[in-house]
Amino acid sequence: VLDGSLPVISDPDTEKALKEAARIIRDTDDTVAFPTETVYGLGGSSLNDNSVLNIYKAKNRPSDNPLISHISSIDQLNRKVYGEGNLSQSELLKHIPNSYHNLIHKLWPGPLTILLPVPSENIHTLSKLTTADQPTFAVRIPANPVARALIALSDTPIAAPSANASTRPSPTLASHVYHDLKGRIPLILDGGACRVGVESTVVDGLCDPPLLLRPGGFTYEEITEIGGDFWKNCKVESAKNVKTNEKVRTPGMKYKHYAPSAKVVLLIPDSPTSDGKLDTFKQIFTSEIASNSDIKNVAILTTKYLDNITKTNLPIPGTHNLIIKTLGHNGEEIQANLFAALRQVDEEDKVDLIFVEGISEEDEGLAIMNRLKKAAANNCVSF
Ligand code: TXA
Ligand code: MG
Repeated sequence: VLDGSLPVISDPDTEKALKEAARIIRDTDDTVAFPTETVYGLGGSSLNDNSVLNIYKAKNRPSDNPLISHISSIDQLNRKVYGEGNLSQSELLKHIPNSYHNLIHKLWPGPLTILLPVPSENIHTLSKLTTADQPTFAVRIPANPVARALIALSDTPIAAPSANASTRPSPTLASHVYHDLKGRIPLILDGGACRVGVESTVVDGLCDPPLLLRPGGFTYEEITEIGGDFWKNCKVESAKNVKTNEKVRTPGMKYKHYAPSAKVVLLIPDSPTSDGKLDTFKQIFTSEIASNSDIKNVAILTTKYLDNITKTNLPIPGTHNLIIKTLGHNGEEIQANLFAALRQVDEEDKVDLIFVEGISEEDEGLAIMNRLKKAAANNCVSF
């Protein structure tokens, strides 16, 4: 994590693809999609306005949301953002506030993003489009070896949002990127399925108390345990737009995100027992289907209480098709399958309506429910 040594790549085809991708990042205004342990990213140089513009253009996303700069080592951060090479071992972390040291020692490389003040003067200025003109910038060292090799070979901080078309679920397979962005970007590096499946945890340790801005691959519980005393009172800022105690509906989210084309109905468990859940679900199921005669194909994505559900114990009309799939049986499995399952039933099975069984908001549940509430927009029902 600290030193900037180059990766060893044993497979010649992999090396060729990585070098081509690195050249595009370093020498052109173009973008490259690449795997990270969280989701696929659409990368361009953080130092180049045109690259960052091309990221927003390919995704069709408004440019008001700042991007995370991905680095391969602290040495690279020092050289490329602060213009300081060859720092001694004891000076390596001089640009990173003490509040972050426990977290980055233990969680980098990995799905943790921290905010740092934008340096007032440096030779390789970060593009203002990367920071959306904020006084801070977001940075992380990803754990995925393909991602780190790409960043090290290009020796460029890489600005990368998720590589989906704006509003769609984040991509966790190269085929998801291809589906959304084909013809819009020159290269996708295929590194297989993303291990974590939700984006990085974004924290702000520049204020007191520190803030969890986006729940992600590391849980709130992990941040407060690992971070040291300062992080014990970390506030969950993302809770602002996620109301959990509403009986029937959550209010509309700020903007559409993680959304399949099909309508998504999120079932939020209001008690940790199976009592009455199947009956309540049957009622919700029947009334959703009756509410729109265009609905013919329906998917149910289960996690816990609905896991034993079968086609035969549901009041499904003979004219309708039903797909039932489990998302997994623990937080890590559900996280890893979440976006791929939403895309599968939406893009491949072409269902009109998706019921998703939510989980309680502890541990991985916080990030999972944050994504599902956005995917479901207004359609959240307690059960
Ligand atoms: O796992 C991830 O983080 C993925 C992969 C590709 O690394 N990237 C990703 O990027 O999710 P994006 O652009 O979808 O999300 C960046 C998040 C947004 O919530 C953004 O508001 C926040 O980080 N962010 C970035 N810079 C910020 C800043 N200066 N202040 C506050 N929030 C910031
Ligand atoms: Mg995104």
